[in-house]
Amino acid sequence: MTNADFEKLVDTSDEWIVSRTGIRERRIAGDGITGSDMAVEACKRALDMAGCPNEEVDLLVLATVTPDYRLPSNACVVQEKMGLPNAAAFDVVSACSGFINGLSIAKAYIETGQYRKILVVGTEYLSSIANYADRSTCVLFGDAAGAVLVEATTEDAGIRSTFLKSDGSMREWLWIKVGGTKYPYQKGTDPQGLDKIYMSGSDIFKVAVREMGRASQAVIENAGIAPEQIRWVVPHQANLRIIEALVKRLNVPMDRVYLNIEKYGNTSSASVPLALDEANRQGLIARGDHVLMVAFGGGLFWGSALVKW
Ligand code: ACO
Repeated sequence: MTNADFEKLVDTSDEWIVSRTGIRERRIAGDGITGSDMAVEACKRALDMAGCPNEEVDLLVLATVTPDYRLPSNACVVQEKMGLPNAAAFDVVSACSGFINGLSIAKAYIETGQYRKILVVGTEYLSSIANYADRSTCVLFGDAAGAVLVEATTEDAGIRSTFLKSDGSMREWLWIKVGGTKYPYQKGTDPQGLDKIYMSGSDIFKVAVREMGRASQAVIENAGIAPEQIRWVVPHQANLRIIEALVKRLNVPMDRVYLNIEKYGNTSSASVPLALDEANRQGLIARGDHVLMVAFGGGLFWGSALVKW
């Protein structure tokens, strides 16, 4: 969907969307395609690139806020569709920071030795929960999935540090009020958009810049590197202005930031792995490069990861 498509739907303009967000297009899943289908495709491509047979995957961590079902987890659906006979599989629900949370879980499990080959996938069917009557949010979101395989190694490489933090007191700034057990659907009533995403964008904007900055500094310090040593920042692609403000704080030049928000919009937990995969497949990330990933979203929940490639 292009900005021109949105001009026909709500009172907005290409000029407003581009100047306030940096978004020009988003991808919308086709009829009958769900988050698990996109996740399967992403996981297959990740395993193919890693040369890892399905049988060797011993854990699948799937980040999403748009599962196919309320029960069971989307991870179990993907496990069955892919055929991962030796894996355990579970979901994490951390909105836009879900993939970073997944990486942190993978790091911890690999360090304990419990699992050795872990698929981490972020997948979102956000068009199913976007409110296409609300111009302040609907123009932001797109559908996508991205995946990585994390495995144990003795090489001088890997996930050096992760940082996670949340503050549930601001949960109503980004939520779907109706449809859970507290506010169930009332049969025969119109939910009036309360069953779709509501976001107080300008409130979140300020906290996002501040906390993504702190989260980035935390992993840089924990990894024992200087900010100048960061070769790539792969941030959550929610808003170009947030990303610009963030890297200014970190004193990292924009040519070290991988951006694809223009093409996809905000794809929540898929955003970071989607950008990472694009940068990797374009050959932009070299062995030994320090890559900083950082995200912020509903919960509120935010996090970062520092990887030596
Ligand atoms: N087209 C035209 N005008 C619009 C649109 C639109 N699509 N949307 C809002 N406006 C108007 C508003 O109505 C308002 O008008 P008013 O001044 O007459 O009241 C004006 O534009 C400014 O609105 P703001 O909300 O203050 O605009 P802002 O500059 O903050 O941009 C945005 C909004 C893009 C949502 C921004 O606040 C943002 O990106 N916030 C952070 C989002 C984020 O990072 N979320 C976390 C991740 S998402 C997740 O977890 C799923």
